[in-house]
Amino acid sequence: MESFQQKYGSWALVTGASSGIGAEFCRQLAPKGINLVMVARRKERMEQLAGELKDKHGVQTKVIPADLSKDDFMETLLPEISSLEIGLLINNAGFGIRGAFLNSNLERELEMLSVNCRAPLILTRIIGQQMLKRKRGGIIFIASVLGFIETPYFANYAASKAYNLYMGQALWYELKHHGIDVSVLSPGTTKTEFSKISGGNGMPAMKVEPVVRIALKKLGNKPSIVAGLHNRMFVLWCKLFPRRIMTVLIGSVMKKMIKN
Ligand SMILES: NC(=O)c1ccc[n+]([C@@H]2O[C@H](COP(=O)([O-])OP(=O)(O)OC[C@H]3O[C@@H](n4cnc5c(N)ncnc54)[C@H](OP(=O)(O)O)[C@@H]3O)[C@@H](O)[C@H]2O)c1
Repeated sequence: MESFQQKYGSWALVTGASSGIGAEFCRQLAPKGINLVMVARRKERMEQLAGELKDKHGVQTKVIPADLSKDDFMETLLPEISSLEIGLLINNAGFGIRGAFLNSNLERELEMLSVNCRAPLILTRIIGQQMLKRKRGGIIFIASVLGFIETPYFANYAASKAYNLYMGQALWYELKHHGIDVSVLSPGTTKTEFSKISGGNGMPAMKVEPVVRIALKKLGNKPSIVAGLHNRMFVLWCKLFPRRIMTVLIGSVMKKMIKN
């Protein structure tokens, strides 16, 4: 069987590498001999992880502090990555905004769209072009189980995750003819810093390790990867029940949550 490195080359770019799911992707790619470009705003966090992975697995790392909500983030990234053959792109950075939409901060909602949707679009277009020339590569989009259903009081976040789900699944078909594997990972509640930043939901959370392990295992086999049986059940309900009923159900749960 081809190794990860033989299949995708020796460099991966992971956004949101400073914590949670992104940091775990780095931890699981390094033992496979994959060198890492780590992108997020918190430089020290990434440098610490990069140092650990270099010492333990002998991989090369490049830490790029960048704010993906900024229009010109690519001007920071491009000079740093232009000489590298990036064979794996993990579009992971993201956050959410919980609460009543009309009370929300418009600037922050737009920032979220930039990080969750605009950045993956730009990175996939630019790095995908390089993969196309080499006729090999892998791209993982991180959506959410909430990408499968419109979610009142988390409306823009769920819509941003539906964007990743649709985009990634469409590109799975489009790019597989060019040797590029694309999959969408949709986590349910996972133990990361997400709930601190985006508001918790009190649901049992999965550990981050199996969520990432399944994504790397299924990349290239499945367009859509949902980690955890309970999350797969949730997605199944979203598909089986009329959307309106699911939206009302989820809306009533979310409404109670934001009151608490
Ligand atoms: N945890 C869950 O329950 C859950 C469930 C479903 C989907 N997800 C998705 O999983 C992905 C990873 O989230 P997580 O759970 O690992 O949460 P996390 O621990 O809060 O990590 C989020 C990452 O995104 C980065 N990020 C946020 N804003 C950024 C910006 N403006 N520019 C650059 N990087 C930015 C953060 O880095 P800096 O702060 O250092 O910039 C951090 O590394 C997200 O797309 C999220 O929507 C999470």
